Amino acid sequence: MKNRPRRLRSSAPLRDLVRESTLHAKDFILPLFVSEKITAKTPVASMPGVFQFTVEELVPHALEAAEAGIRSVLLFGIPGEKNETAAQAYAEKGVIQRTVRALKKEAPGLIVLTDVCLCEYMSHGHCGVLASDRILNDESLPLLAKTALSHAAAGADIVAPSDMMDGRVAAIRSALDDGGFQNTVIMSYAAKFCSAFYGPFREAAESAPAIGDRRSYQMDAANGREALREVEQDIREAADMILVKPGLPYLDILWRVKERFQMPTAVYNVSGEYAMIKAAAANGWLNERETVLETMTAFKRAGADLIVTYWAREMLDWLRAG
Ligand code: PBG
Repeated sequence: MKNRPRRLRSSAPLRDLVRESTLHAKDFILPLFVSEKITAKTPVASMPGVFQFTVEELVPHALEAAEAGIRSVLLFGIPGEKNETAAQAYAEKGVIQRTVRALKKEAPGLIVLTDVCLCEYMSHGHCGVLASDRILNDESLPLLAKTALSHAAAGADIVAPSDMMDGRVAAIRSALDDGGFQNTVIMSYAAKFCSAFYGPFREAAESAPAIGDRRSYQMDAANGREALREVEQDIREAADMILVKPGLPYLDILWRVKERFQMPTAVYNVSGEYAMIKAAAANGWLNERETVLETMTAFKRAGADLIVTYWAREMLDWLRAG
């Protein structure tokens, strides 16, 4: 009599029967970039397969994705004009506000999430208000709250603050409630680390800081316990969903957050993670499909309910093909 773990691996149906983590179409959130600075869809060089879209082009693109099974999209905007108060972040006719309105009109069932941050809209590229060389926390909160409120007014289902200012979830929640948007969901990037893996995104979103870095607001890569305190605080401020970011290098954080809080938990498979696999696959060094399926499975195993990934669209095809 012998225990043989290999017994359960001896055929595909048996492996399927005992598989612990499963990927579903609804798990994937597709990030999309919409720009006022272009006249036609423009590729992002460091992210093969990812584009900036005009508002007019983004809508049919998102509709096609929705028809293919995409349930949710996360929008990032590149405004025509940046300034010192991030005015286009909360302009009624800003790039995101126009896109959300158009999308909700054409595809009311598609869940629209919006990134709430100021970096794409500030002339200096920081996520908050800059005073000489400091990012001011409390002065940034009203701008973030106004931005979230304007997204909700345009019809966003979920607002996702990614700025990492202290107290922003509470500020956004009270602005939404006062504005009559009690049902607009907040997905907080609660544990967002200061990461070199965001490099390609800053090209896509044209949001690299002109001076300094984001170390005074995004988290230090060394700190796991602090991530739990960040999440706890955001839950206390009424965040409905929690996001951990980046993904693969922070699976331990994802696991601890899910184990401890049992919230609907998302992970962001960020631009650098995408670029690495794309580059290796382009060289023939990795099989893209196999590597990505394994990566997504790892997120689910570590506790993710939802995965923000630039592969969301491809994932649907790969899942369907089995
Ligand atoms: C905005 C924001 C960033 C990302 C998402 N929202 C960049 C940053 O913090 O510099 C990164 C996403 C990615 O790398 O795919 N603050």
